[in-house]
Amino acid sequence: MPAGRPGPAAQSARRPPPPLPLLLLCVLGAPRAGSGADTAVISPQDPTLLIGSSLQATCSVHGDPPGATAEGLYWTLNGRRLPRELSRVLNASTLALALANLNGSRQQSGDNLVCHARDGSILAGSCLYVGLPPEKPFNISCWSKNMKDLTCRWTPGAQGETFLHTNYSLKYKLRWYGQDNTCEEYHTVGPHSCHIPKDLALFTPYEIWVEATNRLGSARSDVLTLDILDVVTTDPPPDVHVSRVGGLEDQLSVRWVSPPALKDFLFQAKYQIRYRVEDSVDWKVVDDVSNQTSCRLAGLKPGTVYFVQVRCNPFGIYGSKKAGIWSEWSHPTAASTPRSGEDPVAPGGSASPQGHTGI
Ligand SMILES: *[C@@H]1O[C@H](CO)[C@@H](O)[C@H](O)[C@H]1NC(C)=O
Ligand SMILES: *[C@@H]1O[C@H](CO)[C@@H](O)[C@H](O)[C@H]1NC(C)=O
Ligand SMILES: *[C@@H]1O[C@H](CO)[C@@H](O)[C@H](O)[C@H]1NC(C)=O
Ligand SMILES: *[C@@H]1O[C@H](CO)[C@@H](O)[C@H](O)[C@H]1NC(C)=O
Ligand SMILES: *[C@@H]1O[C@H](CO)[C@@H](O)[C@H](O)[C@H]1NC(C)=O
Repeated sequence: MPAGRPGPAAQSARRPPPPLPLLLLCVLGAPRAGSGADTAVISPQDPTLLIGSSLQATCSVHGDPPGATAEGLYWTLNGRRLPRELSRVLNASTLALALANLNGSRQQSGDNLVCHARDGSILAGSCLYVGLPPEKPFNISCWSKNMKDLTCRWTPGAQGETFLHTNYSLKYKLRWYGQDNTCEEYHTVGPHSCHIPKDLALFTPYEIWVEATNRLGSARSDVLTLDILDVVTTDPPPDVHVSRVGGLEDQLSVRWVSPPALKDFLFQAKYQIRYRVEDSVDWKVVDDVSNQTSCRLAGLKPGTVYFVQVRCNPFGIYGSKKAGIWSEWSHPTAASTPRSGEDPVAPGGSASPQGHTGI
């Protein structure tokens, strides 16, 4: 007999493990037709467990397919063979498994516990859902664009890490006589956000809260009470024009119009302007542009291109006492100051940003 010829034990040790990708989707708990999956049963099937708890599972073979006795069976978890000392043969047809101090599931869709026959084939599978119940979501903030819609954002409790699929739903109702409504457009401005597009009432406060649910439990945020009129924001001011002030080489004049969607309500809008030189990233902010739609920038460098943006804070709508929410900044508008000694009747320097970007 040639030296080094592997005996049966070595052969079985060399058998390649079953391909990993097949095992990573936790769908094995579902009955599969014709594949022999009904030759064994794992119990408990698809359990949900807290992190740190332990699991006692069994794989029981029934019928007697040749070789399929508990003696040769083994377990894998997420495609990795579990050490033999974690399992125990209970009798001719049942292999037990004891896992202590379970970690959170590697995938939110569950970990894959599989019982294999001696030849590596899959006899049965079970999903393990190991995680934590959700904690109370908090830090809900909402804003209404032009008084038409409402967008809310929140922070999940415990950094959102439950190791299990967790559903968040934003609920809202009119304070005194409304019925609960559930927001339907999620992830509109980031992972924990929802958008209510229409049918909102003015002049009546809303109660708003978030419910988090997973297989291990649910948690509800505190209730936020708000009036739409107190959280109004708007589109950025359109038609921002920047032009020279005659031949004044250190000044530019900025004009804009108030956001059209709110024109009829903007009795007390505030505006802010910011500007920067073309090759800098530092914006300078002009803070005190109250209820005007034009402003002059002074103290600028001669012969220099500036980018200018304007934003609007529509506070005090219908007498609301709240601070209002700043709009986004308008698209940058570019213009250049006159060069020192340039002819004062030279054409004005206003331009669209496209005219200057890339210079
Ligand atoms: C083997 O053990 C399991 C678990 O204790 C039990 O349910 C099953 O009936 C036993 N089977 C036989 C053939 O003894
Ligand atoms: C939990 O994770 C630790 C570290 O990754 C590992 O050593 C341990 O075996 C895991 N426990 C279980 C039950 O899988
Ligand atoms: C609260 O929410 C805001 C955004 O809406 C976010 O910037 C802030 O970090 C959150 N606070 C906490 C404590 O998570
Ligand atoms: C989460 O929501 C989806 C869709 O509404 C639902 O199918 C699923 O059962 C929910 N999961 C939990 C844990 O509530
Ligand atoms: C603010 O401007 C609007 C329109 O430009 C005007 O109707 C309103 O009277 C002004 N309000 C104040 C307090 O100046």
